Amino acid sequence: MRALVTGVAGFIGSHLACELIKRGDSVIGIDSFTDYYPRKIKEKNIESLREEKKFSFIQADILETDLSEILSRVDCCFHQAAQAGVRKSWGKEFEIYVKCNILATQRLLEEAIRSKLPRFVYASSSSVYGTVEVLPAREDTLLNPLSPYGTTKLCAENLVSLYQQNYGLSSISLRYFTVFGPRQRPDMAFHRFIKAGLKGEEIEIYGSGKQTRDFTFISDIVSANILAAESNLCGAFNIGGGYRITLLEAVREIEKAIGKPLKIEIGAEQKGDVQDTSADITKAKKELFWSPKYDLSAGLSLQVEWMKDNLL
Ligand SMILES: NC(=O)c1ccc[n+]([C@@H]2O[C@H](COP(=O)([O-])OP(=O)(O)OC[C@H]3O[C@@H](n4cnc5c(N)ncnc54)[C@H](O)[C@@H]3O)[C@@H](O)[C@H]2O)c1
Repeated sequence: MRALVTGVAGFIGSHLACELIKRGDSVIGIDSFTDYYPRKIKEKNIESLREEKKFSFIQADILETDLSEILSRVDCCFHQAAQAGVRKSWGKEFEIYVKCNILATQRLLEEAIRSKLPRFVYASSSSVYGTVEVLPAREDTLLNPLSPYGTTKLCAENLVSLYQQNYGLSSISLRYFTVFGPRQRPDMAFHRFIKAGLKGEEIEIYGSGKQTRDFTFISDIVSANILAAESNLCGAFNIGGGYRITLLEAVREIEKAIGKPLKIEIGAEQKGDVQDTSADITKAKKELFWSPKYDLSAGLSLQVEWMKDNLL
């Protein structure tokens, strides 16, 4: 396949591009190196990709680039680019979320139609659910995001669906549940916890630590994207690890993976953080023939090894 990966220098985009290249696919990657976290981390994410003959990199903002020429050269667009993170999405910063998550997606979709793009895979998020009454959440649950970030991800997901219904764009949205593994974003909990643990520093847990999450290992997210690209399914699919644990239980697992206890300080609850996330992955299993292969401890060992080599 010839693929376009947006947000290719990010955590998920870079892994996806590496796997596509490994399979023998051609990849055009686009990224504007937003300053959400340091550029040098993103440069490192794509260091090995830049040496690949079948990989080409465009440093550009989706909102400021002629996308039609790029899109006319590919079979599938994996749209991973976004301004991530729940906590920063309040206040003045919201404008960046609107630009990167809503406007950029709308631009891509318009150009996808014009270029007759065969397939569009959108990186949606569990944050579109907000607080749900019945867990694990099914795709047809009422969507009620709790953060401005979640609202922008839902808006973009709705746009993807609109372009499918009105213009026949073959598209699918994958709702990722908290992704972890090597190259995880530095603002994410596991990254901060492992780094603090390895350095013997204290970690701050936001809220009681009793909030639960469904954690998904990066390789499982990548395999879901590839299956989604190769199918002609439309609509939204939960992509989650299939288990739910408290943050404190996750901390215990991290302690096992790094081989020493963490020093924990309980901090304030953060606005926009949902209490519980849990994915019902029946639909992805049945229709996409996808299922997660990595459990928490296997994935954490790989993340800890990567962090030892890369961050200390
Ligand atoms: N990491 C998770 O746990 C998680 C969970 C649910 C959904 N998601 C979604 O998965 C996708 C990837 O997340 P990630 O964790 O890899 O984030 P990331 O921040 O590591 O990667 C996103 C990349 O997109 C780029 N980007 C943003 N706006 C751009 C624009 N306008 N033009 C070009 N490039 C742009 C950024 O520079 C960054 O490198 C996002 O859409 C995110 O909302 C992630």
